[in-house]
Amino acid sequence: MQTDVQPVSAPSTPWQSLRLDHVRKVFRDSRGGDYAAVREISISISRGDFYCLLGPSGCGKSTLLNLIAGFEPVSEGSIAFAGEIGDQPWRKPIGGAGVDRSMIFQDAGEALFPWLNVEENVAFGPRLHGASGQALLPNLDRYLRMVGLKEHAHKFPFELSGGMKQRVQIARALIMEPDILLMDEPFAALDAITKRLLQQELARIWQETGKTIVYVTHDIIEALLLGTRVAVMTAGPAATIKQEIEVRLAQPRSSTSADFVELTKLLEATLHEEVHKARAAQAQAA
Ligand SMILES: Nc1ncnc2c1ncn2[C@@H]1O[C@H](COP(=O)(O)OP(=O)(O)O)[C@@H](O)[C@H]1O
Ligand SMILES: [Mg+2]
Repeated sequence: MQTDVQPVSAPSTPWQSLRLDHVRKVFRDSRGGDYAAVREISISISRGDFYCLLGPSGCGKSTLLNLIAGFEPVSEGSIAFAGEIGDQPWRKPIGGAGVDRSMIFQDAGEALFPWLNVEENVAFGPRLHGASGQALLPNLDRYLRMVGLKEHAHKFPFELSGGMKQRVQIARALIMEPDILLMDEPFAALDAITKRLLQQELARIWQETGKTIVYVTHDIIEALLLGTRVAVMTAGPAATIKQEIEVRLAQPRSSTSADFVELTKLLEATLHEEVHKARAAQAQAA
Protein backbone atom coordinates (compact mmCIF):
# COMPACT_ATOMS: atom_id res chain seq x y z
CA MET A 1 0.00 0.00 0.00
CA GLN A 2 1.13 3.55 -0.69
CA THR A 3 2.02 5.49 2.40
CA ASP A 4 3.20 8.78 0.94
CA VAL A 5 -0.13 10.54 1.33
CA GLN A 6 -2.29 10.24 4.42
CA PRO A 7 -5.88 9.01 3.96
CA VAL A 8 -8.39 11.50 5.28
CA SER A 9 -11.96 10.90 6.32
CA ALA A 10 -14.54 11.80 3.66
CA PRO A 11 -13.36 15.18 2.38
CA SER A 12 -16.05 17.64 1.32
CA THR A 13 -14.12 18.25 -1.92
CA PRO A 14 -15.08 15.60 -4.46
CA TRP A 15 -12.43 13.16 -5.59
CA GLN A 16 -10.54 14.21 -8.67
CA SER A 17 -9.16 10.86 -9.77
CA LEU A 18 -9.45 7.15 -9.19
CA ARG A 19 -5.90 5.93 -8.84
CA LEU A 20 -4.69 2.39 -9.35
CA ASP A 21 -1.08 2.10 -8.25
CA HIS A 22 1.02 -0.98 -9.04
CA VAL A 23 -2.01 -3.24 -8.75
CA ARG A 24 -1.42 -6.97 -8.87
CA LYS A 25 -3.99 -9.74 -8.45
CA VAL A 26 -3.06 -13.33 -7.75
CA PHE A 27 -5.68 -16.10 -7.69
CA ARG A 28 -5.28 -19.56 -6.21
CA ASP A 29 -5.83 -21.94 -9.14
CA SER A 30 -7.68 -25.29 -9.00
CA ARG A 31 -4.41 -27.17 -8.33
CA GLY A 32 -3.55 -24.95 -5.38
CA GLY A 33 -0.96 -22.92 -7.29
CA ASP A 34 -0.80 -19.15 -7.66
CA TYR A 35 -2.06 -17.54 -10.86
CA ALA A 36 -1.15 -13.89 -11.37
CA ALA A 37 -4.00 -12.45 -13.48
CA VAL A 38 -2.86 -8.82 -13.60
CA ARG A 39 0.29 -7.02 -12.48
CA GLU A 40 1.80 -3.53 -12.42
CA ILE A 41 -1.44 -1.82 -13.31
CA SER A 42 -1.06 1.91 -12.68
CA ILE A 43 -3.78 4.10 -14.10
CA SER A 44 -5.40 7.35 -13.17
CA ILE A 45 -9.03 7.89 -14.14
CA SER A 46 -10.24 11.47 -13.87
CA ARG A 47 -13.70 12.37 -12.66
CA GLY A 48 -16.00 12.45 -15.69
CA ASP A 49 -13.75 10.23 -17.83
CA PHE A 50 -15.23 7.48 -19.99
CA TYR A 51 -12.38 5.04 -19.56
CA CYS A 52 -12.38 1.96 -21.81
CA LEU A 53 -10.37 -1.16 -21.07
CA LEU A 54 -9.69 -3.22 -24.17
CA GLY A 55 -7.98 -6.58 -24.24
CA PRO A 56 -8.10 -10.15 -25.50
CA SER A 57 -10.52 -12.59 -23.92
CA GLY A 58 -9.20 -13.94 -20.62
CA CYS A 59 -6.57 -11.23 -20.14
CA GLY A 60 -7.94 -9.90 -16.86
CA LYS A 61 -10.38 -7.12 -17.78
CA SER A 62 -13.18 -8.37 -15.51
CA THR A 63 -10.64 -9.02 -12.77
CA LEU A 64 -9.56 -5.39 -12.90
CA LEU A 65 -13.16 -4.16 -12.88
CA ASN A 66 -13.98 -6.41 -9.92
CA LEU A 67 -11.00 -4.98 -8.04
CA ILE A 68 -12.25 -1.44 -8.67
CA ALA A 69 -15.75 -2.52 -7.59
CA GLY A 70 -14.22 -3.86 -4.38
CA PHE A 71 -15.67 -7.37 -5.00
CA GLU A 72 -12.12 -8.74 -4.65
CA PRO A 73 -9.15 -7.41 -2.68
CA VAL A 74 -5.93 -6.48 -4.52
CA SER A 75 -2.94 -8.77 -3.80
CA GLU A 76 -0.48 -5.90 -4.08
CA GLY A 77 -0.68 -2.18 -4.78
CA SER A 78 -3.60 0.09 -4.06
CA ILE A 79 -6.82 1.50 -5.47
CA ALA A 80 -7.91 4.85 -4.06
CA PHE A 81 -9.88 7.98 -4.69
CA ALA A 82 -7.51 10.92 -4.76
CA GLY A 83 -7.72 14.67 -4.86
CA GLU A 84 -6.39 17.87 -3.43
CA ILE A 85 -7.76 20.27 -0.87
CA GLY A 86 -5.97 23.54 -1.56
CA ASP A 87 -2.54 22.18 -2.40
CA GLN A 88 -2.84 19.32 0.12
CA PRO A 89 -3.17 15.93 -1.61
CA TRP A 90 -5.47 13.34 -0.05
CA ARG A 91 -6.22 9.68 -0.77
CA LYS A 92 -9.09 7.49 0.31
CA PRO A 93 -8.45 3.79 -0.37
CA ILE A 94 -11.46 1.85 -1.55
CA GLY A 95 -12.19 -0.78 1.05
CA GLY A 96 -14.61 -3.26 -0.48
CA ALA A 97 -17.82 -2.65 -2.41
CA GLY A 98 -19.63 0.63 -1.86
CA VAL A 99 -22.63 2.61 -3.08
CA ASP A 100 -20.20 5.03 -4.76
CA ARG A 101 -19.68 2.37 -7.46
CA SER A 102 -22.29 0.42 -9.46
CA MET A 103 -21.59 -2.55 -11.71
CA ILE A 104 -23.43 -3.43 -14.91
CA PHE A 105 -22.85 -6.99 -16.10
CA GLN A 106 -22.94 -8.56 -19.56
CA ASP A 107 -25.63 -11.03 -18.60
CA ALA A 108 -28.68 -8.97 -17.69
CA GLY A 109 -30.77 -12.15 -17.49
CA GLU A 110 -28.84 -13.21 -14.42
CA ALA A 111 -28.50 -9.72 -12.97
CA LEU A 112 -32.23 -8.88 -12.83
CA PHE A 113 -34.71 -10.27 -10.33
CA PRO A 114 -37.17 -12.33 -12.40
CA TRP A 115 -40.00 -11.98 -9.88
CA LEU A 116 -39.88 -8.15 -9.93
CA ASN A 117 -41.13 -5.96 -12.77
CA VAL A 118 -38.97 -3.27 -14.40
CA GLU A 119 -39.96 -0.55 -11.94
CA GLU A 120 -39.46 -2.82 -8.92
CA ASN A 121 -36.09 -3.98 -10.21
CA VAL A 122 -34.95 -0.37 -10.58
CA ALA A 123 -36.39 0.63 -7.17
CA PHE A 124 -34.85 -2.35 -5.39
CA GLY A 125 -31.50 -0.73 -4.50
CA PRO A 126 -32.85 2.55 -3.11
CA ARG A 127 -35.54 0.63 -1.14
CA LEU A 128 -32.85 -1.59 0.34
CA HIS A 129 -31.12 1.58 1.48
CA GLY A 130 -34.30 2.86 3.14
CA ALA A 131 -35.90 5.07 0.46
CA SER A 132 -39.68 5.11 0.77
CA GLY A 133 -42.12 4.81 -2.13
CA GLN A 134 -43.14 8.48 -2.44
CA ALA A 135 -39.62 9.89 -2.10
CA LEU A 136 -38.42 7.49 -4.73
CA LEU A 137 -40.95 8.43 -7.43
CA PRO A 138 -39.21 11.45 -9.04
CA ASN A 139 -35.92 9.55 -9.46
CA LEU A 140 -37.67 6.41 -10.59
CA ASP A 141 -39.47 8.45 -13.22
CA ARG A 142 -36.27 10.29 -14.24
CA TYR A 143 -34.14 7.21 -14.76
CA LEU A 144 -36.83 5.08 -16.40
CA ARG A 145 -37.31 7.92 -18.90
CA MET A 146 -33.56 8.33 -19.34
CA VAL A 147 -33.21 4.74 -20.51
CA GLY A 148 -36.49 4.78 -22.48
CA LEU A 149 -38.39 2.32 -20.28
CA LYS A 150 -41.17 4.51 -18.90
CA GLU A 151 -43.73 2.75 -21.08
CA HIS A 152 -42.49 -0.69 -20.01
CA ALA A 153 -42.32 -0.12 -16.25
CA HIS A 154 -44.77 -2.93 -15.43
CA LYS A 155 -43.24 -5.62 -17.59
CA PHE A 156 -41.33 -8.52 -16.11
CA PRO A 157 -37.82 -9.52 -17.26
CA PHE A 158 -39.15 -12.49 -19.24
CA GLU A 159 -41.16 -10.04 -21.38
CA LEU A 160 -38.11 -7.95 -22.29
CA SER A 161 -35.59 -8.18 -25.14
CA GLY A 162 -31.87 -8.37 -24.37
CA GLY A 163 -31.45 -4.66 -25.08
CA MET A 164 -34.33 -3.71 -22.78
CA LYS A 165 -32.89 -5.83 -19.98
CA GLN A 166 -29.63 -3.91 -20.31
CA ARG A 167 -31.59 -0.66 -20.11
CA VAL A 168 -33.07 -1.89 -16.82
CA GLN A 169 -29.59 -2.65 -15.52
CA ILE A 170 -28.41 0.84 -16.48
CA ALA A 171 -31.40 2.52 -14.78
CA ARG A 172 -30.90 0.34 -11.72
CA ALA A 173 -27.28 1.44 -11.52
CA LEU A 174 -27.99 5.13 -12.17
CA ILE A 175 -30.75 5.43 -9.56
CA MET A 176 -28.15 4.66 -6.87
CA GLU A 177 -26.42 7.85 -8.07
CA PRO A 178 -22.96 6.31 -7.84
CA ASP A 179 -19.81 8.30 -8.61
CA ILE A 180 -18.63 5.58 -10.96
CA LEU A 181 -20.41 3.20 -13.31
CA LEU A 182 -18.48 -0.01 -13.96
CA MET A 183 -19.60 -1.80 -17.10
CA ASP A 184 -18.37 -5.26 -18.05
CA GLU A 185 -19.01 -5.87 -21.77
CA PRO A 186 -22.64 -4.81 -21.26
CA PHE A 187 -23.63 -4.92 -24.94
CA ALA A 188 -21.46 -7.84 -26.09
CA ALA A 189 -24.35 -10.31 -26.32
CA LEU A 190 -26.70 -7.99 -28.23
CA ASP A 191 -27.40 -7.93 -31.97
CA ALA A 192 -25.48 -5.28 -33.98
CA ILE A 193 -28.35 -2.80 -34.36
CA THR A 194 -29.44 -2.92 -30.72
CA LYS A 195 -25.81 -2.63 -29.68
CA ARG A 196 -25.27 0.50 -31.79
CA LEU A 197 -28.46 2.08 -30.46
CA LEU A 198 -27.49 1.42 -26.85
CA GLN A 199 -23.97 2.74 -27.45
CA GLN A 200 -25.48 6.00 -28.73
CA GLU A 201 -27.80 6.18 -25.75
CA LEU A 202 -25.02 5.46 -23.30
CA ALA A 203 -22.94 8.27 -24.84
CA ARG A 204 -25.91 10.59 -24.34
CA ILE A 205 -26.49 9.42 -20.75
CA TRP A 206 -22.79 9.91 -19.99
CA GLN A 207 -22.95 13.48 -21.30
CA GLU A 208 -26.22 14.19 -19.48
CA THR A 209 -25.12 12.84 -16.10
CA GLY A 210 -21.38 13.57 -16.21
CA LYS A 211 -20.73 10.16 -14.64
CA THR A 212 -17.32 8.58 -14.56
CA ILE A 213 -17.53 5.30 -16.48
CA VAL A 214 -15.05 2.43 -16.57
CA TYR A 215 -16.06 0.24 -19.48
CA VAL A 216 -14.65 -3.15 -20.42
CA THR A 217 -14.86 -4.34 -24.01
CA HIS A 218 -12.96 -6.44 -26.53
CA ASP A 219 -14.31 -4.31 -29.40
CA ILE A 220 -12.05 -1.49 -30.67
CA ILE A 221 -14.87 0.32 -32.50
CA GLU A 222 -17.01 0.32 -29.37
CA ALA A 223 -14.12 1.65 -27.26
CA LEU A 224 -13.50 4.46 -29.75
CA LEU A 225 -17.19 5.30 -30.15
CA LEU A 226 -17.55 5.76 -26.40
CA GLY A 227 -14.28 6.38 -24.61
CA THR A 228 -12.44 9.55 -23.70
CA ARG A 229 -9.50 7.28 -22.99
CA VAL A 230 -8.78 3.77 -24.17
CA ALA A 231 -6.28 1.40 -22.60
CA VAL A 232 -5.15 -1.85 -24.22
CA MET A 233 -4.18 -4.71 -21.93
CA THR A 234 -1.66 -7.41 -22.76
CA ALA A 235 -2.59 -11.08 -23.02
CA GLY A 236 -2.46 -12.82 -19.64
CA PRO A 237 -1.12 -14.23 -17.44
CA ALA A 238 0.20 -11.27 -15.48
CA ALA A 239 -1.49 -8.83 -17.85
CA THR A 240 -0.60 -5.18 -17.75
CA ILE A 241 -1.47 -2.02 -19.70
CA LYS A 242 0.38 -1.87 -23.00
CA GLN A 243 -1.02 1.27 -24.58
CA GLU A 244 -3.22 4.14 -23.52
CA ILE A 245 -4.63 6.79 -25.80
CA GLU A 246 -6.81 9.84 -25.39
CA VAL A 247 -9.77 10.17 -27.75
CA ARG A 248 -10.44 13.81 -28.45
CA LEU A 249 -13.44 13.36 -30.72
CA ALA A 250 -16.78 15.05 -30.04
CA GLN A 251 -19.95 13.02 -29.51
CA PRO A 252 -21.78 11.72 -31.46
CA ARG A 253 -18.91 10.01 -33.26
CA SER A 254 -18.77 8.38 -36.65
CA SER A 255 -16.67 5.27 -37.14
CA THR A 256 -16.01 6.33 -40.73
CA SER A 257 -14.40 9.73 -40.04
CA ALA A 258 -10.71 9.97 -40.95
CA ASP A 259 -9.63 10.65 -37.33
CA PHE A 260 -11.63 7.67 -36.09
CA VAL A 261 -10.13 5.33 -38.69
CA GLU A 262 -6.63 6.49 -37.78
CA LEU A 263 -7.21 5.78 -34.08
CA THR A 264 -8.66 2.37 -34.98
CA LYS A 265 -5.46 1.45 -36.80
CA LEU A 266 -3.35 2.68 -33.92
CA LEU A 267 -5.16 0.36 -31.49
CA GLU A 268 -5.56 -2.53 -33.91
CA ALA A 269 -1.82 -3.13 -34.20
CA THR A 270 -1.47 -3.52 -30.43
CA LEU A 271 -4.66 -5.46 -29.80
CA HIS A 272 -4.16 -7.94 -32.63
CA GLU A 273 -0.67 -8.75 -31.40
CA GLU A 274 -2.04 -9.48 -27.93
CA VAL A 275 -4.96 -11.52 -29.28
CA HIS A 276 -2.47 -13.70 -31.19
CA LYS A 277 -0.38 -14.17 -28.04
CA ALA A 278 -3.49 -15.13 -26.07
CA ARG A 279 -4.53 -17.69 -28.72
CA ALA A 280 -1.04 -19.15 -28.86
CA ALA A 281 -0.96 -19.49 -25.06
CA GLN A 282 -4.42 -21.15 -25.06
CA ALA A 283 -3.37 -23.58 -27.80
CA GLN A 284 -0.26 -24.51 -25.83
CA ALA A 285 -2.25 -25.07 -22.65
CA ALA A 286 -4.79 -27.30 -24.46
N1 LIG B 1 -11.86 -16.24 -9.05
C1 LIG B 1 -10.88 -16.69 -9.85
N2 LIG B 1 -10.10 -17.74 -9.48
C2 LIG B 1 -9.10 -18.18 -10.27
N3 LIG B 1 -8.80 -17.65 -11.47
C3 LIG B 1 -9.55 -16.62 -11.91
C4 LIG B 1 -10.64 -16.08 -11.13
N4 LIG B 1 -11.19 -15.06 -11.82
C5 LIG B 1 -10.50 -14.97 -12.97
N5 LIG B 1 -9.51 -15.89 -13.02
C6 LIG B 1 -8.55 -16.06 -14.13
O1 LIG B 1 -7.93 -14.82 -14.39
C7 LIG B 1 -7.78 -14.64 -15.79
C8 LIG B 1 -8.46 -13.37 -16.21
O2 LIG B 1 -9.87 -13.56 -16.17
P1 LIG B 1 -10.91 -12.40 -16.50
O3 LIG B 1 -10.58 -11.21 -15.69
O4 LIG B 1 -12.26 -12.96 -16.34
O5 LIG B 1 -10.60 -12.12 -18.05
P2 LIG B 1 -11.40 -11.22 -19.12
O6 LIG B 1 -12.49 -10.51 -18.42
O7 LIG B 1 -10.37 -10.29 -19.70
O8 LIG B 1 -11.90 -12.17 -20.16
C9 LIG B 1 -8.34 -15.89 -16.46
O9 LIG B 1 -7.27 -16.75 -16.76
C10 LIG B 1 -9.25 -16.46 -15.41
O10 LIG B 1 -9.34 -17.87 -15.55
MG1 LIG C 1 -14.56 -10.64 -18.69
